[in-house]
Amino acid sequence: MTQHSTNLKPQWVDNIMETVGNTPMVKLHGLSQLSGCLVLAKLESFNPGLSAKDRIGHAVIEAAEKDGLIKPGGTIIESTSGNTGYSVAMACIVKGYKCILTTTDKSAEEKITTLRALGAEVIVCPNHVPSDDPQSYYSQAERLAAEIPNSFYVNQYYNEANLDAHYRSTGPELWKQTGGLITHFMATCGTGGTISGSGRYLKEQNPNIKVIAVDAEGSVLTKYHQTGELDKSEIHSYQLEGVGKNIIPSNVEFDIIDKFIKVDDRSSAFRARQLTKSEAIFAGYSSGAVIEAFMRMRREFKPSDVVVLLFADHGSKYLSKIYNNGWMQKQGFIRKIADYAPSYQIQRRLERVFNKYIKNYGNI
Ligand SMILES: Cc1ncc(COP(=O)(O)O)c(C=O)c1O
Repeated sequence: MTQHSTNLKPQWVDNIMETVGNTPMVKLHGLSQLSGCLVLAKLESFNPGLSAKDRIGHAVIEAAEKDGLIKPGGTIIESTSGNTGYSVAMACIVKGYKCILTTTDKSAEEKITTLRALGAEVIVCPNHVPSDDPQSYYSQAERLAAEIPNSFYVNQYYNEANLDAHYRSTGPELWKQTGGLITHFMATCGTGGTISGSGRYLKEQNPNIKVIAVDAEGSVLTKYHQTGELDKSEIHSYQLEGVGKNIIPSNVEFDIIDKFIKVDDRSSAFRARQLTKSEAIFAGYSSGAVIEAFMRMRREFKPSDVVVLLFADHGSKYLSKIYNNGWMQKQGFIRKIADYAPSYQIQRRLERVFNKYIKNYGNI
């Protein structure tokens, strides 16, 4: 083959981990119109594993290597609803580690299948057990880490490298992509890494930026933010994945978060479905939760506000769940005419008609 030189710079990267980050930000026209302010979406599904969690896998393993916590040929262990598992499994392939993941039977089947496709050993644990139960996915991961020599338990809830990865990448991207105009940042809170890391960076740039965490009904985080108390009576099972917790992870920086909003499974599922039809953005279940929280707050925003909603993952991870009418019916989520509406505007119109009907003729 003849060799010839050009002025073009090669654009390939060394391995898949180097494609993580620099995800796009896209205007949400429907929500901007409804609220009167500028609403933007940070699309984390553009990462190679289709989620924000891709930012942490490599980072937590490199931090452990630096601290001498894992040696070549070792085993990386993590408890995960699926997305961190993907990220850790990807990093393990690139770095040559064995990967064991514990997850729960709540995680969408397609997420679990994907983890196995990446060569990870996946242990599915029951979801309906307390966090300190020996069967819980946390306890199982801890047990494996204690038993397997040269293993490292990532523990994304308490590992500061999780928060730090978002402080170093997501936060600066949000600041740069809005040209420093961001006034509100909204994201779901699970381990807290995304919201706390990004929020800390943003508040360092402008302390007036409001950081709003989205939590799930059935989680303890909102009450803890209000009272400083872990109230176990708040805990019940729910369907949202990666949102809320039944423990208080140290990666949730409660001082950085201005407000928590709790949302429900049903509304979040419909918000995600509407997003796809309104904006052609196919996002995951927790993205629907962020939209539901935004809808509840929408009258509080001023026209000059710039609100960024972080959409953590891709809709293809929930094909058997929120994008499946059979699953939606089984949950009892599909029950009124407005549920089938293709957009926010049409839903609001249908709901007005529906509510007027109920007022005049009683419930149907
Ligand atoms: C789909 C999804 N959304 C949101 C989150 C919450 O992100 P964080 O753990 O950084 O708080 C997660 C975490 O697992 C997730 O998987």
